[in-house]
Parts: sequence; C-alpha cells; structure tokens
Amino acid sequence: MTTKDQLLLFLKERKGTWVSGEFLSNCMGVSRSAIWKQVSRLRKEGYEIESSPKKGYVLKGASGLLLPQEIREGLGTCIFGKEKIWYLSETDSTNTRAKELAAAGAPEGTLIVSETQIQGRGRKGRWWFSPPKTGIYVSMILRPLMPPVEAARITLLTGVAVTEALRSLIPEGIYIKWPNDILINGRKVAGILTEISTEMDAIEYMVVGLGINVNTVVFPARIRDAATSIRREAGKPFSRAEILRLYLRHFERLYHTLNRTGFNPVMRRWKEFSKDIGTRIAVKTIGGTIVGEIRDFDDDGALLLEHDGGKTDRIISGDITYI
Ligand code: BTN
Repeated sequence: MTTKDQLLLFLKERKGTWVSGEFLSNCMGVSRSAIWKQVSRLRKEGYEIESSPKKGYVLKGASGLLLPQEIREGLGTCIFGKEKIWYLSETDSTNTRAKELAAAGAPEGTLIVSETQIQGRGRKGRWWFSPPKTGIYVSMILRPLMPPVEAARITLLTGVAVTEALRSLIPEGIYIKWPNDILINGRKVAGILTEISTEMDAIEYMVVGLGINVNTVVFPARIRDAATSIRREAGKPFSRAEILRLYLRHFERLYHTLNRTGFNPVMRRWKEFSKDIGTRIAVKTIGGTIVGEIRDFDDDGALLLEHDGGKTDRIISGDITYI
C-alpha cells in the first residue's frame, strides 16, 4: 500500500475527527513533511481535508470520484478489481482503452474506469451518453476459456450481474430487455458492449464495457424519453463506487458459476429478470425486420420468435421494439 493510500485509510477511519500530524507520522513511520505532501495529493484528487497547525488533519468529505482506492474499499473480490484499475478523468471510450491494454497482455480482471467519455460507444455503432462524474463507465478485460461461439453468454451474464446489483438497491421495476438493455420502469438505465478478439477457435481476450446512468439528471433531447438514471427513478443520489463494487461482486460470483457449473443457472436467472415472453415485438436483424410474439429464450439466450403465420425463428442478435 502506498503512503497516500495508508494515510487515506487512517483519515477515513477517523472521519470528522482531528488527527495530529505527529500521530500520523509515528504510526506510518514517515516524516511530517511527507504526510503534508500526501495530504496535498489527496486534496488534488478531490478529498476535502482540513488542516490546523495545532490539531493536525481532519477528513471532511470523500472525493466522490471512482478512484481505484474508493472502488477497492471493502470490495472483497478475487479477480475483478484486484488486478490493476486504470483510472482516467477523461477518455474517448473505456472499451477502446481496454482493447489496447488487452492486446498488450493485460491480465483478466484489469479494469478501466473513466469519469467521462468523449466517444462513449454503444451497440451497433451507437453513441453512449457519458457526462462527467454522474455515471459509471467501466470496461473489464476477460480471458475466458471458451469457444468464440459462446461469447454471448458473457454478455447475458453481465446483464444478470448488473440487474442483481441494481435490484439490491431498488427492488422494484428493474428488468432486462433482450439481449442486454437494463431498464427501470421501462426506460434504459444501463447498457453493455462486449467486444472480442479471437484466434482460430479460442478467445484471445474479451472486453466487457458497462455504462450505468447513476446520478444523471438531465439527458439530451434525443434520448430523454428512452433513458433514465437510478437517481431519477429513486429520487435520491447514489454512491457510484458502491454500485460498481456490487456489480463486480455479482459478476465474479456468476463468472465462477459459469466456469464451474455451466451456463444453465445463469440463463435461468436471466429469464427471471425478463418480462418479454408473450410480448409482441418487431426485431431488427441483419436480414431485416421481423414481427411476431416472443415464445421463449433458449439455453444459449437466443430469442425464439413466433411469426404471425405460426413459424418460429431463432434469433441470436438484434434490436427489439415492443409493439
Ligand atoms: C448499449 O446499450 O448500446 C451499450 C452501451 C455500453 C456503454 C459502455 S460505457 C463503458 C464502455 N465504453 C464504451 O465506449 N461503451 C461501454
């Protein structure tokens, strides 16, 4: 642990209480000027720390940023978030950064987090609204031992992890819309973008990008009716670090389940989070738009769509609109 992280821990344990410079320098085994230097660095990161020549230092407020030390506090995972966390105050897209790092050999579990994205990317070349410090924009590097044809399982698993995390905060109204849009009260609150690099019949690496609208209040006109945030739905702000931790824990648990037991338990849970069976939809696929009723989702998460003529199609990728 660095001196800065150690100091932050001391101040957090005594949040709101003055701690003398002498006490800190004795406990940490560094000089008082070293303590002062680290306090200045923490202030630059956004921590509100008051100082007094007589009383020492007091932590008044956390930074509210998604800094690695904030994400790691009480995280409790073995892989995801345990490896390096790349923290960026701004980037084009965390998925783009993650792909570069993965191609350079970054291990499974590496996270890339940014406070804002200039070119946040969504599925099918769409754009992802990424305003500063209000949402979670995170990408994870995975190196799963599975054939590329099974990669979609990870996307569905991610949807389950996000839904589990959000339902633990807001128990009502959160569902998954096939294949991986997370909705609260019918509006999109989170989206997943999975990208993959393959070699022959193995996955070299996978990047799982997740965007969650946490405390966003104002959305651009073109997505205003379709998008929402957790804050808008619950009527109060949430800690982004806490939500990210919940997501990482659920993700890791489900990833272990997938590796040990297989995909069935994950898919069963996914189906519990869907309200789509029996609904009439139009689905846009590469081959065109098909209209029909959702009969079911199969064991691999493909959509089984019954046409008006009675024929059933198996659709593995597309965008659905409820009719
Ligand atoms: C979608 O629903 O279309 C997927 C949206 C995915 C957005 C996230 S934000 C973090 C990561 N970086 C990106 O550029 N996109 C994903």
